[in-house]
Amino acid sequence: MNTLLTITPETTVGDIAAHIPLATGVFSRHKMDYCCGGNRPLTEACERAGADLETVQKEIAALERNEDALSLTSAPLGELCDHIESLHHSYLKEAMPAIWDMMKKVLNAHGENHPEYVELHQTVGLLFNELHNHLQKEEEILFPMIRRLAAGEATDPNGLGCMTPEAPMQVMEAEHENAGQALRRMRELTSDYTVPENACTTLTALIKSLEECESDIHNHIHKENNILHPRVRELLG
Ligand SMILES: [Fe+2]
Ligand SMILES: [Fe+2]
Repeated sequence: MNTLLTITPETTVGDIAAHIPLATGVFSRHKMDYCCGGNRPLTEACERAGADLETVQKEIAALERNEDALSLTSAPLGELCDHIESLHHSYLKEAMPAIWDMMKKVLNAHGENHPEYVELHQTVGLLFNELHNHLQKEEEILFPMIRRLAAGEATDPNGLGCMTPEAPMQVMEAEHENAGQALRRMRELTSDYTVPENACTTLTALIKSLEECESDIHNHIHKENNILHPRVRELLG
């Protein structure tokens, strides 16, 4: 992957985010999907989100291309897996139980008068359950395969029948898509993570934590879908 990128309306949002991580902030602000919809050209992504192409392009151009962008696209693949695990997997393992506790409290206190919290509780529960299994599959199956591939070793030393990371990557991408849908529903159910007037401390903390969680998951999926997986495919040829 080239670290210098000329951005045109046809450049995909995934490519832009891969080269300029700070661009993810611009995309989030304009509610543009850059993780699961990362393969869409900038112009199409703007259109879908109702964002102005020229404004978005200007905002991206104004960003500094920081060092992080260079290291993610050129660091050894094993290090990229380590980075994702230590930053995003660890974050989720800490955040999910804490958020779930708050979610249960909010449901008990306000669920009767707010049917939206009943659905939010269900949506968050399903998402966290899926994410828990998803992280485990990446840590136990996909990432070890990628580390072996990058080291030039056999990817399937135990004869599990999965010869390359391609099939597990496709499964992970389908699961990312499901997570993206759950996040969109969570955003709707919380009216774009708006804290209601007179909200109690737990509800306020829950909404803020869910918004932070969304942003971390978007960034996490982006790194896997748009940086890690394409780099593995490049290596597979
Ligand atoms: Fe992951
Ligand atoms: Fe993932």
